[in-house]
Formats: sequence, structure tokens, C-alpha cells
Amino acid sequence: MFLLEASRKQASPGKQKALIFVYQLKLAITTKNISLRNMQLTTYVKQNDKQQLVNLKKMENQIGLQKAYADKMAESLNAYLSSVQVAYMNVRGYHWNITGNQFYLLHEKFEEIYNSLNEMADEIAERILMLGVSPVHAYSKYLKLAKIREKENVSTSKETVREVLDETRQLLKAEREIVRLASENGDDGTVNLITGYIDEQEKMIWMLSALGK
Ligand SMILES: [Fe+2]
Repeated sequence: MFLLEASRKQASPGKQKALIFVYQLKLAITTKNISLRNMQLTTYVKQNDKQQLVNLKKMENQIGLQKAYADKMAESLNAYLSSVQVAYMNVRGYHWNITGNQFYLLHEKFEEIYNSLNEMADEIAERILMLGVSPVHAYSKYLKLAKIREKENVSTSKETVREVLDETRQLLKAEREIVRLASENGDDGTVNLITGYIDEQEKMIWMLSALGK
């Protein structure tokens, strides 16, 4: 009853553990037979662990999505946000360092791309907040979580285009995984946001690939 009460009140996992511990202490004091006490404890905790798991799965966040799912999605989105932030800085570098006869074209194109990545970062972070989680907002953490690595001193047309294509394909991979998980969980908001990026990036890959030929 003690644990059910804790679940009903939606106590945090830490508080629930503390409540279980207090219950165990009470039981230990009131039960003199040690083996009987241990048996009762094991059975009680097993039954209530199952019940707690069911209750935790049922818990919903502020926008009506299962909390357990929202936390998992926020983790994926935070890793994806980190990749977007690293890609943003990389593309700014290509914009600054580009040289050669494609300078004007690529200098402008890279500006368009990093501006788009900047907007994406804001929208992804806000989606994470809607899910009830804080978005990662430190460069040290972005570097740890990102799938995209920092690039420096890339300056030729061929190299910069190749790097942008490679980074965009990595983002696409993450986006498709996010969309799959979101659609399995009825999270239409995340699906809509991310599929918009997929459409734009697939088109960009086609255009940049044509330029490199
Ligand atoms: Fe500029």
C-alpha cells in the first residue's frame, strides 16, 4: 500500500526508493522471524516493482505523451541537437575559409546552410522543452554527444562540399531514427518537425552532389 501510494502521488524514482527503504525498515522491526521477514520483503518488493513499472509507464508529460518515451526521445534529440550545433560551426568555417573559382557560389550557399542549421537548433531545443526536458546548452557537452566531429582548415570547393554532404547524411541518419521512434509512439509533433528537415536535406544533397560532378 505504501508503494502504491508513492506511485499514485507520482513521487520521483529517488523518493520512491526512499519510501521502499522506510517500508523495509518498518517491516524488519515488526517481523521477528528473519527468514519469514526476508520472504515477505522479497515478495512484497517484487509485486510492487511490477506495479510501479506499470504506473511509471502510464505517467504522462505536459503534452500527453508517455513520460518514459518523452525522456528517451529527449535523449535522442539532445544528441541530434549536439550534432547540429557542431555542423553549424563546421559550415561557418567552410563559409569563412572557402577559396577557389567557386568562392562566390559556395560562400553564399554555406551561409544559407549554417543559417538553416541555426534555426534547426532552436526548434529542436524547443521541442525538447515541450517534451519536459532541458536541452543541452554547453559546447563541452555538444562535443561529447555529437556524432559529427569538428572540422578545421577545410578550404577547397571539393573538400568543403564533400564535408557538408557527409555531415548532412549523418544528420539524415539520426533524423530517420528519430522519426521512426516518434511515429511508433504517436508523437506527431516530433515527426512533423523532423520530416521537414529530411525533405530539405535530401534536396540539398541532390543539389550539392550535382555541383561536385
Ligand atoms: Fe559571412
